[in-house]
Amino acid sequence: MNNFIYENSTKVYFGRGCVKEFLISLVKDYDTILLAYGMGSVKKNGIYDEILGILRKAGKNVAEFSQIMPNPTYEKVLEGAQLVKESGAQMILGIGGGSVMDCCKAVSLAARCEAAPWENFWERKGIITFEPVPVGVVVTTSGTGSECNGAAVITNEEKKVKTGYDYPACNPVFALMDPEYTFTVPKVQMVSGAFDSLSHLMETYFSRPDGQNVSDEIAEALMRSIIRNLGLALENPGDYTARSNLMWAASLSENRLVKLGKQCDFACHLMEHQLSAYTDCNHGQGMAVLHPVYYRHICKDGEEKFARFARNVWEIPGKGKTDRALAEAGIEALAQFIREAGLPTKLRELGVADKKQLKEIADSCHYSPGAYRRLETREIREIFMECF
Ligand code: NZQ
Ligand code: ZN
Repeated sequence: MNNFIYENSTKVYFGRGCVKEFLISLVKDYDTILLAYGMGSVKKNGIYDEILGILRKAGKNVAEFSQIMPNPTYEKVLEGAQLVKESGAQMILGIGGGSVMDCCKAVSLAARCEAAPWENFWERKGIITFEPVPVGVVVTTSGTGSECNGAAVITNEEKKVKTGYDYPACNPVFALMDPEYTFTVPKVQMVSGAFDSLSHLMETYFSRPDGQNVSDEIAEALMRSIIRNLGLALENPGDYTARSNLMWAASLSENRLVKLGKQCDFACHLMEHQLSAYTDCNHGQGMAVLHPVYYRHICKDGEEKFARFARNVWEIPGKGKTDRALAEAGIEALAQFIREAGLPTKLRELGVADKKQLKEIADSCHYSPGAYRRLETREIREIFMECF
């Protein structure tokens, strides 16, 4: 294991009824709250009314920040920062999924940052020397794990870059997680969220050091749990136990726990983020297209680990098989899972216009320092072309 420091400051309240039970006490120190949400799902499913009712009953001044789009833009972040300043909000309460939560964290930083937030905190990793506005979140769709980390993945439309760093100072102060709130999430989003969690685990698992370490063993257990519970939730979207497991596994996959002692790859995420910067595609869906192709590409560089993935995650018997054969069978099992879950398998399905655009996207990708092997620009292009 590599050396590490572990910190996770988010206090999690999990389970049926947790919003009704705990929200009032969590906002007691703040008179004015910026209530942030997405494109309207919370108004349709009643979550907005429930939360606004709780805040009003507690006598809070509420300012609203709405229409946060999937894949939030930097422009939207600046709009939110302006609203914090105008309203004097002392806390931001985000209700939504990764997009709303990320946007709230970004706003919390931008509202308190004196100089050029993008250049200082997104273009490169900065040092936060001030206190961001406290953020609390109510999770309505699971997958990204954003509720338990300090990352805010934001698209700068002008620069055509989507990026974000994990700043511990930006961890939400609390996360309210009621699995019943996710019951209204459309199937397509439930699947893409679950795949995103699986992707976070894989990106961490397939990286050095690869020797025996508890982080990889936790990751294997979480991967098996996500695979099993997504199947159950697809059969019955109202299965509270399955939705609970998916929700908590998502947080555990991206709350820094499984990353301890690992370098982490995240090359696939770096590619998908650029894909999304150009096409505005759904994050989990983009990951699903890229993963099998990327893994076939690097399989021989981490053959033993891919063989272990086949045995311990997909439960493929290893007897009589070479590591190579087993490794390939594991990647094929992943591809089969993607197809059976109804996730896309080609970039054309995600709005990529043509191969010319694909080359531009590939050339805009950054390198991942933690991967088994640093990919050449030529290889990134090949991977994208194969996905087309
Ligand atoms: O906008 P509304 O109307 O609320 O609808 C949303 C949106 O269309 C809908 N939804 C959410 N809760 C619902 C619901 N619909 C019905 N009932 C509910 N209860 O779901 C759609 C997708 O929401 P979004 O927040 O965009 O999805 P997700 O949670 O997958 O977040 C994706 C964003 O997170 C970033 C991605 O890049 C992307 O921008 N990521 C953030 C990470 C982090 N902070 O750690 C890590 C990830 O790797 C990822 O990059
Ligand atoms: Zn992700």
